[in-house]
Amino acid sequence: MIVLGCDHGGFELKNLIIEHLKEKGVEYKDVGCFTPESVDYPEIAVALCNEITSGNAELGILVCGTGIGMSMAANKVKGIRAACCSDTFSARLTRMHNNANVLCMGGRVVGPGLAMDLVDNFIFTEFEGGRHQRRVDKITEIENA
Ligand code: RB5
Repeated sequence: MIVLGCDHGGFELKNLIIEHLKEKGVEYKDVGCFTPESVDYPEIAVALCNEITSGNAELGILVCGTGIGMSMAANKVKGIRAACCSDTFSARLTRMHNNANVLCMGGRVVGPGLAMDLVDNFIFTEFEGGRHQRRVDKITEIENA
């Protein structure tokens, strides 16, 4: 299951991503926001991260104006590896090498076509493990220090 969240800066794009996931038959959960009114992105980021750390969802997608605030907030949550991406190579490689579990993007940065490619590259790519696992473990060590 994929969990989605946004603030007002990412509201329109998140709705397009939801349509895209529906077309692909991907199960999803939306943690808001549910209107285009202004909201504080850290609250949405935490709600989404809780879905992942509790085991309800495997991966998450957060959209704000730039993707940056969401990624900063999400990366403060233990067990979350959030990557802010605006190119498909990074969206794919952050799954393969970093085992990222949250994709962040900017609704004011990427257009809808590119955004759907970012989503597909992220959610349909597996972590490679091996030497990358050792490195990801070292990130976890920092988190636990
Ligand atoms: C909200 O105006 C904007 O600051 C937010 O969407 C995001 O871009 C923060 O990083």
